[in-house]
Amino acid sequence: MKRMTRLALILLASLPLASCERMMKNMYDQPRDQAYSANPLFEDGASMRTPPAGTQAYASGARAGSSSGRQGNEETIRGLQDDAAGTQPYPVDGQLLARGKERYGIYCLPCHSPVGDGDGRIVRRGFPAPPSYHIARLRAAPDRYIYDVISQGYGAMAPYADRIPPADRWAIVAFVRALQLSQYAKLDELPAPISARARAALGGQPAAPLKADEP
Ligand code: HEC
Repeated sequence: MKRMTRLALILLASLPLASCERMMKNMYDQPRDQAYSANPLFEDGASMRTPPAGTQAYASGARAGSSSGRQGNEETIRGLQDDAAGTQPYPVDGQLLARGKERYGIYCLPCHSPVGDGDGRIVRRGFPAPPSYHIARLRAAPDRYIYDVISQGYGAMAPYADRIPPADRWAIVAFVRALQLSQYAKLDELPAPISARARAALGGQPAAPLKADEP
């Protein structure tokens, strides 16, 4: 019996809502032009306007016209693919590293420091110190591990998935790898001119200046 009363009350309460929807319907029937319809207001007689030169599309892809697809389909799909990648999905080239360096500077450097030893400004002001990227455990960690730390956070470190899109997370991973290499490069694995210079520097010999076209 009690249940019946409650049901009746719910039904009664939802009545005003139903009429509300009917009132809102007014908004479905506004005076507006359909795509490709005629409109004498414009010189060419068409309702659709040609976008001015240089116009950037606000949305693209199959769902572009829908309210949920403003970002466009392709971007969403690429993000999902990047997020599912087990290893670095992008070729590690200068462009990726430059992007990674820039994003690292914005999102990681304040705590992890420019060289990644964990002695960032924020840490100097009292935030818990992160481990150095140059410890053996993190040098041996797979790319995907670093990607996951960025996405999900780690202990005192906050997750960055809401601020850094997947492609940028992989760019940062590539840059963290470059940082690690920069502090742990093997002399024999360096390109010859650079290794010769490094040897000379380590041996205290004056190094010949690099030619401008050398890496
Ligand atoms: C606000 C400071 C802060 C920022 C910004 C920050 N981190 Fe961290 N990070 C930490 C701290 C603190 C730890 C150690 C957390 C712990 O052990 O509880 C950590 C740990 C790590 C670790 C090591 C995890 C492990 O297994 O020990 C990696 C890798 C890392 N961060 C990468 C990044 C990257 C890449 C970014 C930028 C996208 C970033 N962090 C931004 C503070 C920060």
